[in-house]
Amino acid sequence: MNRLVDKKIVITGAASGIGRAAAALMVAEGARVLIADRDEGGAAAAAAQITGGESAGRAVGVAVDVMDEGSVAVMIDRAVAEFGGIDVLCNHVGGSNPKKDLDLLRMDLAEWDRAMVLNARSTVVASRLALPHMISAGGGSIINTVSVAGLAGDTLQCAYGAAKAAVIRLTQYIATQYGRSGVRCNAVAPGAIMTPALRDNLPADVIADIQRHNALDLIGDPEDIGWAMVYLASDESRYMTGQTLVLDGGLTAQSPIAASRRALLDE
Ligand SMILES: NC(=O)c1ccc[n+]([C@@H]2O[C@H](COP(=O)([O-])OP(=O)(O)OC[C@H]3O[C@@H](n4cnc5c(N)ncnc54)[C@H](O)[C@@H]3O)[C@@H](O)[C@H]2O)c1
Repeated sequence: MNRLVDKKIVITGAASGIGRAAAALMVAEGARVLIADRDEGGAAAAAAQITGGESAGRAVGVAVDVMDEGSVAVMIDRAVAEFGGIDVLCNHVGGSNPKKDLDLLRMDLAEWDRAMVLNARSTVVASRLALPHMISAGGGSIINTVSVAGLAGDTLQCAYGAAKAAVIRLTQYIATQYGRSGVRCNAVAPGAIMTPALRDNLPADVIADIQRHNALDLIGDPEDIGWAMVYLASDESRYMTGQTLVLDGGLTAQSPIAASRRALLDE
C-alpha cells in the first residue's frame, strides 16, 4: 500500500485502458498522479473515480494532446504547480490506425508520420520538458509504454512497430545520458491486453488466436501492466535502467511454432 508514498507522477493517456488502471494502482500505493488525456472529461472522471475516501486529492485530471508540444508544456507546468515537481513521467499514449497502417506497400504514408509523432516524438517532447525538473530534484524515473510490436516484424502495422522500436532504443539513450543525474528510464512492452481499444479493434476470433499463441492460456488485464509500472516508478527498481520489461503472457519467449507443436501433442 505504500510503495509510492508522495511520488509525483504524470501519466499520459490515462483516461482509459492500461493508463487508467496504472493511475489507480499508483494512487493506491500513495502517489499523487496527474491523469493527462486528450479526453478531458474522461481524465476528470478517472481522477474522480480513483480519489474516493483516503485517496482524496491524490489524482487530478487534465487535458493534453501529446502531439502538440505547447499542450505538453502546459501539462508539465500544471504538474509542477500542482505537486511541486515531477518524480515520474509515464509516456503512455500510443497507437496507430490499423486501417491505414498496413504493410509497407499499402501503408498510408501520412499514417507513418502520424504514428511517429504519436508514439516517438511525443516521448521525446514530454521527456525533454520533464527532465530538467527531475535533474534539479536529484533524479526521477521515465517509463515509456511500447509494445511487443516493437520487438519483431509483423504482417501489418508497419508504422506502429517501427515507432515502438524507436522508443525502445530511445529508452536506452535517455538511460545512458541522464543516469549520472539520477534519472532512470525503462519501458514496458505489453502483449495483448484486454482494453476497450483491443475489443473495438480486434474480432473475438483474432483475440482467441493471440491467446493460442501465448505460453500462458491468458489475455492480460490492464492491471498486469499497471503493476509493472508501479514497480518501475518505485525505488524498488532503483538499479534498473535502460530496460524493456516484456509482459506478454510468454508470446515472445517461445518459438513461433510452439502453438502448432502444442496442437500436435494434443492430437
Ligand atoms: N491494449 C493493448 O493490447 C496494448 C498492447 C501493446 C501496447 N499497448 C500500448 O499501451 C498504450 C495504451 O493503450 P491502451 O490499450 O490502454 O489504449 P486506450 O485506447 O484504452 O487508451 C488510450 C488513451 O490515450 C488517449 N489518447 C489518444 N491519443 C491521445 C493524444 N494525442 N494525446 C493525449 N491522449 C491521447 C485516449 O483518449 C485514451 O484515453 C499505447 O501506447 C499502446 O500502444 C497496448
